[in-house]
Amino acid sequence: MNQTVVVLGTQWGDEGKGKIVDLLTEQADAVIRFQGGHNAGHTLIINDHKTVLHLIPSGILREGVQCIIGNGVVIEPTSLIKEIKQLEETGVKVRNRLLISQAAPIIMPYHIRLDQLREEGKGDNAIGTTGRGIGPAYEDKVARRGLRMGDLCDKDSLREKLQEVLTYHNFVLQHYHQDEALDFDGIYDTICKQADILQPMITDVTAHLHQLHDAGKRLLLEGAQGSLLDIDHGTYPFVTSSNTTAGSAATGSGLGCTDIDYVLGITKAYTTRVGSGPFPTELFDEDGAKLAKEGVEFGATTGRPRRCGWLDLVALKRAIQVNGVTGLCITKLDVLDGFENIKLCTAYDKQSGFPQSEAQWQAIQPVYETLAGWQSVTRGITNYDDLPKAAKHFIDVIEQYTETPVAIVSTGPERNENVIKVHPMGD
Ligand code: GDP
Ligand code: IMO
Ligand code: MG
Repeated sequence: MNQTVVVLGTQWGDEGKGKIVDLLTEQADAVIRFQGGHNAGHTLIINDHKTVLHLIPSGILREGVQCIIGNGVVIEPTSLIKEIKQLEETGVKVRNRLLISQAAPIIMPYHIRLDQLREEGKGDNAIGTTGRGIGPAYEDKVARRGLRMGDLCDKDSLREKLQEVLTYHNFVLQHYHQDEALDFDGIYDTICKQADILQPMITDVTAHLHQLHDAGKRLLLEGAQGSLLDIDHGTYPFVTSSNTTAGSAATGSGLGCTDIDYVLGITKAYTTRVGSGPFPTELFDEDGAKLAKEGVEFGATTGRPRRCGWLDLVALKRAIQVNGVTGLCITKLDVLDGFENIKLCTAYDKQSGFPQSEAQWQAIQPVYETLAGWQSVTRGITNYDDLPKAAKHFIDVIEQYTETPVAIVSTGPERNENVIKVHPMGD
C-alpha cells in the first residue's frame, strides 16, 4: 500500500489533475493542496454534474474525506469563502471538513491590483497571468512582509501589520504605477469579517498531517498548475510564482520528503497551454483546431481558449526527472479518437540539452514520430484489453521513451471513465 501519494501536472497545467484526485480519493482519508492558489481550476464531473474547484481540494465531493490547504498555498479569502458557500448551497458540507494552515500567505487586494497593473504595463510581452494576485502574494512571502492566515486570529496585531504593508504597497501603486492608493479602513473591515468566518478552520496543518500519517491514514497531495510552469524548472519567465513540482508537496504541507511513497504524473495525450510563452509542439493548423474542439479546451479559471499541440515527450521526460515520477496517468486519450495520424515529439532539433532560456526555446524545432491513429471510440473504456491496438501502441511508445510505467489512462471526463492498470494507492 502507498500511504502518501502526490498527484501533479507534468505539462503547463490543466492535465486533468482534479478529475484524477477525485477518482483516487475513494481510497484516501485526506487531500491536501500544497502550492498555487485560486489561479487553479480543477474540474470534476460526476453524473454529468460539473464542479470547478479553485482552492478547495478535489476530495470535497467524497463524504468523509478531509480537505486541507497547506502552508504553500496563497489564499484569497473572498474567493475561498465564495467557494465554500457555493459548495454548501449544493448540499456539500465543507466547514467541518476543511482545515487551513496558519502559515499560508494571504492574497490581499493590493496583490490583485499589482498583478493586473504589471500585466497591462507589459503590453505584448505580458505573461498572461490569471490576474489573481498570485505572483505579488508570493513576492511578499519571500520578502517576509506578507500577512498569513494565522494573522487573522489576532485583530490588533493584524491592524498593525496591515498598516505597515499597505503603506509600502500604496507607495508602489501611487509612485511607480501612478495608480490610486487603496483605503486602509475598507480593507481592514473586510478582512476582519472574513477572519470571523475562516478562523475556526485555521490550524497547525503540519502537526495535523503528522498525526494522520502516524495513524496510518492515507494522504493524497494535489498539485496545481504544471511542471513547466514551475518557478525554477519551467519556461521562465512565462511561469507561475510557486514550485509546482514534487518537492513542494513536502515544503508546502510540512510532511517530510521521505513520507512520500508515490508520485503520479498527469499528462494529457497531447499538450495545451493557457497564456504566453514557449510551446514547441503548438499547432496552428486543422489538427490544432480539432484538438481544441474535441478536447473542449477553454480555461477552467479564466475561460480563455487554450493553445493546443502534440504531446512533447522531451518535456515530459524532463518533468518526470524533476518530480521523481513513479507512474504516469495519460488523460484525454479519447480526444485523439478521430485522428488519422498522431504525432509525438521525440527530440528537439538544433539543441543539445534542455532549453534554459527564452532564446533557446525559440531556437528549437520539434522532431516528430508519427503513429497511426486508432480512429475508433475509446471514450468510457475501462478495461485495458478493450483499447484499440493502435492506442495500446501509443501508450507503449510513451512508456518506452520515458522509461516510466503508465498507471492510469483516462478515457473521458466522468469520474468512472478510466483504465486503471496499477492503482497508485496500491489496491
Ligand atoms: P486540472 O486543472 O488539471 O484539474 O484540469 P482542468 O479541469 O482545468 O482541465 C481538464 C479538462 O479536461 C476538464 O474539463 C475535465 O473535465 C476534462 N477531462 C479530464 N479528463 C478527461 C478525459 O480523459 N477525457 C476528456 N474528454 N476530458 C477529460
Ligand atoms: P491548473 O491547476 C493552466 C498560467 C497562467 C499564466 C501563468 C502565470 O488548473 O492546472 P499566474 O496567475 O499563476 O501568475 O499565471 O500560469 N496558469 C495556469 N495555466 N492551468 C493552471 O492551473 C494555471 N495556473 C496558472 O495562464 O500563463
Ligand atoms: Mg485547470
